Amino acid sequence: MPVSQSTLHVINHLDRDYLRQALEHDVRTGLTATPKWLPPKWFYDATGSELFSRITRLPEYYPTRRELAILRTRSADLAAASGADTLVELGSGTSEKTVLLLDALAAAGTLRTYTPVDVDAVTLAAAARRLTDRFPGLSVRAVCADFERHLALLPRTGRRMVAFLGGTIGNLEPAARQVFLKELRATLRRGDTFLLGADLVKDTGRLVAAYDDAAGVTAAFNRNVLRVVNRELDADFVPEEFAHVALYDERHDWIEMRLRAGRDMRVRVGGLGLDVEFAAGEEMRTEISAKFRPEGLRAELVAAGFTIHRRYTDPAGDFTLILAGV
Ligand SMILES: C[S@@+](CC[C@H](N)C(=O)[O-])C[C@H]1O[C@@H](n2cnc3c(N)ncnc32)[C@H](O)[C@@H]1O
Repeated sequence: MPVSQSTLHVINHLDRDYLRQALEHDVRTGLTATPKWLPPKWFYDATGSELFSRITRLPEYYPTRRELAILRTRSADLAAASGADTLVELGSGTSEKTVLLLDALAAAGTLRTYTPVDVDAVTLAAAARRLTDRFPGLSVRAVCADFERHLALLPRTGRRMVAFLGGTIGNLEPAARQVFLKELRATLRRGDTFLLGADLVKDTGRLVAAYDDAAGVTAAFNRNVLRVVNRELDADFVPEEFAHVALYDERHDWIEMRLRAGRDMRVRVGGLGLDVEFAAGEEMRTEISAKFRPEGLRAELVAAGFTIHRRYTDPAGDFTLILAGV
């Protein structure tokens, strides 16, 4: 019997003009604020995605292993409970864990389409090609887009499971998270589901170690945002002059990653005609990664209009996967 061909389409909502304008806006806003900050999505050029991939394999970085452990045992149940023929994945990166979900949907006989969505066009296209080769008959519709801005533009055909894995939801501040969840809910129809992976509150030492590894990979990832700003906006940050800082904020239940200036310095951002002063020891926030309590997360989903169908936690109680419906 002939095996049907898989197909690959790439849709790009992030052309160079859009990216440039969005980066200019974020860098100008963040570097002129007190305290200074930069949003985490700009970590992820091809180098940033590669560094993140290395982070997921570090001994200190437990979230990927825990989420994988849940997916290994629960993917068949998730496939059956969702009945999805289309898997949409937000912030899909290398799509490594996704293979488990795709395998389960294929085994259930429902799988037709995979729609990975990411801001990093290079990593997105490479992952899409790999999965096209691996799953004969699969239609891959990769979308280069910003999940904080383009949810309404994502394809709506089929019975969809929208996956948001890796604890990436924790990179959104609570107000932005609520907006994101409500916007996502508004795009879903009866029968569609939302699969959310979230990291749970735990021992502070383990949390901080996961964002401050001994090999310095997370530090290199953190500094990569400066390289992106240098390249794209003609800035002259010296990344090595900034120390990587990771701390746990118990009041907000989130990890903060920061970059601390090693000395007084003035940075020129040529593309913005902007000079930015840093005092020695000044810290700029580059990421938050919120950690959740199961009841709080459930309440946030319910407040956004979701109904909880399934809730799993790994045996160590580190990470949770929730399947929600509308
Ligand atoms: C923490 S990584 C998680 C990657 C993968 N899902 C995993 O679980 O290992 C976050 C991913 O989301 C992407 N990303 C970050 N902000 C984004 C945004 N606003 N819109 C779309 N993708 C984004 C990054 O490029 C990266 O691939």
